[in-house]
Amino acid sequence: MSGMAGDIQFLLWLLLLSNSSSCFGSELDIQCLKTIQQSVIDPKGILKSSWIFDNGTEGFICQFTGVECWHPGENMVFSLDLDSLGLEGQFPQGLENCTSMRVLDLSTNNFSGPIPSDIARKVPDLASLDLSYNSFSSEIPVGISNMVHLNILNLQHNQLSGQIPGQFNVFTQLTQLIVAYNQLSGRIPSALQMFPPSYFAGNQGLCGAPLDDCPRKRKWRRIRVRLPRINDESSIGAAAGFVAGFVVAFYFPHWFIFSRSLHPYIFRIC
Ligand SMILES: *[C@@H]1O[C@H](CO)[C@@H](O)[C@H](O)[C@H]1NC(C)=O
Ligand SMILES: *[C@@H]1O[C@H](CO)[C@@H](O)[C@H](O)[C@H]1NC(C)=O
Ligand SMILES: *[C@@H]1O[C@H](CO)[C@@H](O)[C@H](O)[C@H]1NC(C)=O
Repeated sequence: MSGMAGDIQFLLWLLLLSNSSSCFGSELDIQCLKTIQQSVIDPKGILKSSWIFDNGTEGFICQFTGVECWHPGENMVFSLDLDSLGLEGQFPQGLENCTSMRVLDLSTNNFSGPIPSDIARKVPDLASLDLSYNSFSSEIPVGISNMVHLNILNLQHNQLSGQIPGQFNVFTQLTQLIVAYNQLSGRIPSALQMFPPSYFAGNQGLCGAPLDDCPRKRKWRRIRVRLPRINDESSIGAAAGFVAGFVVAFYFPHWFIFSRSLHPYIFRIC
């Protein structure tokens, strides 16, 4: 038994090794960070001073502020943690080339503009995405639901609007989805109702479990307002029609058949 476990362990180790060495991440990962550095506004100069690319030593990017590699001696980004650096501008570019990245944290900066609609193509393998405490606006892209490895998605304290995509219902592996303090509206997808209400707080238009029920639709109101009026008119009309019809039909059955003026009342009664 232990021999077999050892074999499996060895096999996994071999797989990991072959996987990492066959990724050829280095050049792409360096390109990824260069493009990010160029595309974000960095008023405090933190990335400018820390991300110096003229050192070709394998693993040199692993010393950069916010960069964590899979292995310290290999230029392959595992996580990018750029929180609280005073960064501004749009969602960073170049992330496509950080092909081994699993964790992206851009929280507590001043990023603005939309979350890219093709985010699932740019960073398909993320397990954790934290964009909280920025100024991201527009809608939550439906494509986020194609990030099938995503466990943690934190979007709280932005200016996101629109509905939470119904496609979140296919997100069985999400263990955390925080969208509090945005401008979201509409019904919370049913698959997300197991999360605590605090994850959805501060969105005036959001409704449904775990928050309060959604308000009844306008249609109901219209019917309730109009019903009494219909009742008043039709009940008087129907009563008059019934009496008149009864008298006419009883005493003058031939009128009943031919008189057009009685037809509206007959229809009302029926
Ligand atoms: C290059 O980076 C490595 C690892 O961070 C460091 O030890 C070395 O001193 C650097 N070399 C130069 C020339 O900056
Ligand atoms: C990814 O890296 C390649 C090679 O360096 C480069 O040509 C390409 O423009 C990069 N893609 C992005 C989105 O930056
Ligand atoms: C974000 O940017 C606005 C102006 O664009 C500025 O007033 C504000 O102080 C910035 N916030 C942070 C946390 O850097």
